[in-house]
Amino acid sequence: MASGKSVAIVGATGAVGLEFLTCLERRNFPVGRLRLLASARSVGKTLTFRGESLPVEELKPESFKDVEIGLFSAGAAISREYAPMAVKAGVTVVDNSSAFRMDPEVPLVVPEINPEDIRHHKGIIANPNCSTIIALVPVYAIHRRNPVRRMIVATYQAASGAGAKAMEELRVQAADVLAGKPAVKKVFRHQIAFNLFSHNSKIAENGYNEEENKMVKETWKIFHDVTVKISATCVRVPVFRAHSEAIWIECERPVEEAQVREWLTGAPGLRVVDDREGNTFPMPIDASGEEDVLVGRIRRDYSRDDGRGISLFVAGDQLLKGAALNAVQIAEILVNGAVAPNRASTGVVRLPFSPDTAVLPR
Ligand code: A2P
Repeated sequence: MASGKSVAIVGATGAVGLEFLTCLERRNFPVGRLRLLASARSVGKTLTFRGESLPVEELKPESFKDVEIGLFSAGAAISREYAPMAVKAGVTVVDNSSAFRMDPEVPLVVPEINPEDIRHHKGIIANPNCSTIIALVPVYAIHRRNPVRRMIVATYQAASGAGAKAMEELRVQAADVLAGKPAVKKVFRHQIAFNLFSHNSKIAENGYNEEENKMVKETWKIFHDVTVKISATCVRVPVFRAHSEAIWIECERPVEEAQVREWLTGAPGLRVVDDREGNTFPMPIDASGEEDVLVGRIRRDYSRDDGRGISLFVAGDQLLKGAALNAVQIAEILVNGAVAPNRASTGVVRLPFSPDTAVLPR
């Protein structure tokens, strides 16, 4: 085998799959051999990696022979079926789906926040939901110094979160509507071009959709703290690929705006965009293709009169930090063996951990 790791991408032809290729190449990940796996529909296609054209193969139970790292992004059903097979074959799986995120045996990791959890893996490491990652990278920069007790989030989520077909639906609908033709709906139930709607995931018993409930439970698991009170409203907007979020947080102690700006400026994975004079703040168009999450609109929340509230606005590339990049960063930690705990003030790490035992707000 060539030097470097033997890597397989499951779902290589999808929106996230293609970004895996870009991230591995751009970050110079030590890839020895790369297998590109997708459905039978994609057999015959080729994808380019480091200037070399590689064939897409059909995903099969025997696809994992001699593979060391599996990057999965073909949906939860495929992960549930194939990730355990891959683990049996000796693969360490970084799974981008929701299949294992709440499994107490599976670490749920954002490298800027809880890299040390990777140590507890038993073959599978889960990548959090994109909206959770994009919110928590900036929120953690505050949380680690002045614990966040309450968080209200409103998301503005791009079509990319629903895959390549959803991005295409936005493009086709926009062109059709501008040409005076009706918008054809295939991926989303509602028109996405020139419209927005409540997130397309199922509404749970508590009245929140799955995306909103994921943000709550995943935050608890990543922060190792089920006492943070969280409420989210998730909305799909006609943007191609980066998610934006308005976030209101309440800390344990009073918090100064200037102090928060300083913490955010020095934090990994973030770029402060907070130009009040130019009225320029994080925008999805600027976040697209960027590894960093953009954060701005840093200001005191005057709905609280005890000085414990701060508001932020963030934008992050859903396909990169919200998915492929986060997974590749996890794989880098696996390869380098370097886990630098940066849990300064949030207490001892305990695993196994099950946020399912905690009750969601009703
Ligand atoms: P394919 O392109 O062959 O359908 P997206 O999130 O952009 O919709 O992409 C989903 C990814 O998951 C694609 O790479 C897709 O491959 C892959 N996929 C979907 N169904 C299967 C399946 N049954 N077996 C393997 N890969 C699948």
